[in-house]
Amino acid sequence: MALVLGIETSCDETAAAVVEDGRRVLSSVVSSQAAVHAPYGGVVPELASRHHIENISPVIEDAMRESGVAFPDLAAVAVTQGPGLVGSLLVGVQAAKAIALVHGKPLVPVHHVAGHVEAAFLAHGDLPLPALALVVSGGHTSIYEVPEEGLYRLLGRTRDDAAGEAFDKVAKLLGLGYPGGPVIDRLAEGANDQAVEFKVARIKDGRADFSFSGIKTAVLLHVKREGIPPVADPGDVPARVRDLVASFQRAVVSALVRGLARAAAEHRPRSLILTGGVAANSLLRREGERAARDLGLPIFIPPLSLTTDNAAMIAAAGFVGFRRGARATLALNAEPHLPLG
Ligand code: KG4
Ligand code: ZN
Repeated sequence: MALVLGIETSCDETAAAVVEDGRRVLSSVVSSQAAVHAPYGGVVPELASRHHIENISPVIEDAMRESGVAFPDLAAVAVTQGPGLVGSLLVGVQAAKAIALVHGKPLVPVHHVAGHVEAAFLAHGDLPLPALALVVSGGHTSIYEVPEEGLYRLLGRTRDDAAGEAFDKVAKLLGLGYPGGPVIDRLAEGANDQAVEFKVARIKDGRADFSFSGIKTAVLLHVKREGIPPVADPGDVPARVRDLVASFQRAVVSALVRGLARAAAEHRPRSLILTGGVAANSLLRREGERAARDLGLPIFIPPLSLTTDNAAMIAAAGFVGFRRGARATLALNAEPHLPLG
């Protein structure tokens, strides 16, 4: 049995968790800064690092206490090394180093996106491999082939905005608040998603790539053309705005599912994974499941608590890295642009 403490501070969630053997969550504490950044319509890096500094010790203490595990019983300390905001990442990296040093524990660096993929294994156990994983979050929109747990081969990615970023920017321009994904998801329910015809650019050079900056601009142009003012009361959103965001959501979800289905037809995996913050989207979950049925493949989507940023997925990925011999020294540095696969 190997107990791993995971620490995650790459964006605006300060999180710590203890996971057993990469499969059983003993504790998972997430302190979200969403309210801090909401007035700005996006994450303000300076504020994010300051709040991580304030929150990191209590969050780690809570995670350890809730797990009932003592520091000497840990097999390793895993931390998100990147990618992300450098000032935010550094807080988690320094905390992990301090714990590893004081308690004489191995330090395991984790790629944030590997964490999102491992969330599927954490939630569902061993999956039929190779799998294709669509990772959709505020910072990433990528498809990976997973030949075995812990190995990732990049097949395609967004060439500009991430899908979550498009949700956040569209919500911001309509005055709907931050983060935009959950708000749009809720407003789109029951609205007319055929009201506005949006197209998502198709990449035609054969790679499994995405592009979402065009649709964001299309929404902006539509809003200007129609003279739609920013929403004044979030509790009373006009029908045409709800129809607009529903149409936007449908276009983004169709592009994501189409991209995954195309990659699956080409690479013939034995299962599909849908993960990352945007995988919390109810339409994407439904459409992902439908596409998987059409392809005759099982699809594994983590529960909501494991799709958006958390440290349990980092501890799970850390366990996999630990088993594979991944170790960092105390010279470990945050890598804001850390590549994967
Ligand atoms: O994985 P995550 O927590 O952080 C990153 O690694 O970026 O993803 C956050 C993103 C945000 O852009 C947020 O708007 C989006 O996930 N998101 C959603 C939903 N819940 C969160 N997007 C669409 N529908 C949702 N229900
Ligand atoms: Zn994330």
